[in-house]
Amino acid sequence: MAGDAQTNDEPEESASSPVYELKEVAVDLTGVLGTRRILSDISLTVHQREIVGIVGRSGTGKTTLMRALGGLTAPAAGELLLNGEPISGTPEGVVTIFQDYGNALLPWRTVAKNVALPLEGRMRRSEIRERVDRAIDSVQLRGRENDYLNSLSGGMQQRVQIARALAVNPAVLLMDEPFGALDALTKASLQDVLLDLHSHNDATIIFITHDLDEAIYLSDRTFVISGDVSAGDPGHLSLELDVELPRPRHQVRTRESPDYLFLRHTLGDAIDLARG
Ligand SMILES: Nc1ncnc2c1ncn2[C@@H]1O[C@H](COP(=O)(O)OP(=O)(O)O)[C@@H](O)[C@H]1O
Ligand SMILES: [Mg+2]
Repeated sequence: MAGDAQTNDEPEESASSPVYELKEVAVDLTGVLGTRRILSDISLTVHQREIVGIVGRSGTGKTTLMRALGGLTAPAAGELLLNGEPISGTPEGVVTIFQDYGNALLPWRTVAKNVALPLEGRMRRSEIRERVDRAIDSVQLRGRENDYLNSLSGGMQQRVQIARALAVNPAVLLMDEPFGALDALTKASLQDVLLDLHSHNDATIIFITHDLDEAIYLSDRTFVISGDVSAGDPGHLSLELDVELPRPRHQVRTRESPDYLFLRHTLGDAIDLARG
């Protein structure tokens, strides 16, 4: 019967509902030189469990975009929805790993107390201890949990910030150049920690990087952001790349595959073109 056929033809409910929907978003910031448009015409939909990477040169508005996604800066134009609603204030379930870890952590607290900070008062102490322990293990800081922050190197402090985000187990993880300050080996192992954790949960991850290889290695989709804000060319998305590389990914084998190399070339070309 026609009715039955229709029922069968109905699209299945998408397993991955949109988390973020941005429609022609613009962001202005006001500084000593007055108000400037930093981002314009940003349209982007991010689905649940997606890992989305954004690459671009310095000053193209990447941090500003993260701040808008985290509810710290309101759009000047366009629509920015999180789970179908406009963002107001810092949204529940969204955790940001900031580029500037120095301002994000409390130097007079120990490693463990920094990691525990967002959990305090929200769950039993035994659960906090368990989560903090697991997160500290993930970022390979076991043995340093009772050290004060100011006795750690910059890279270790950034790992504390990452551990703190992991301990929360957020629905949305926003990461602004999370591994930029780390040495190559630590960076590779934390990339894999992140992918491994993601394979066991439903988190949606949006991250920013300067590193084209990192963008491809981690993401399901990579965007290029280009522009030159100081020359009156606000940041905008100039390329979207589907990264259909199989998971789990492997630091050596994935990066050797022809599909990976093709994506890497495409992204490299786009970044050069974006230089303007
Ligand atoms: N508060 C502000 N007022 C005016 N301009 C700003 C402000 N903060 C950043 N900018 C400018 O916005 C542009 C984008 O900054 P940012 O988002 O930090 O870029 P990115 O993270 O890509 O390096 C830069 O040119 C920067 O100088
Ligand atoms: Mg930045």
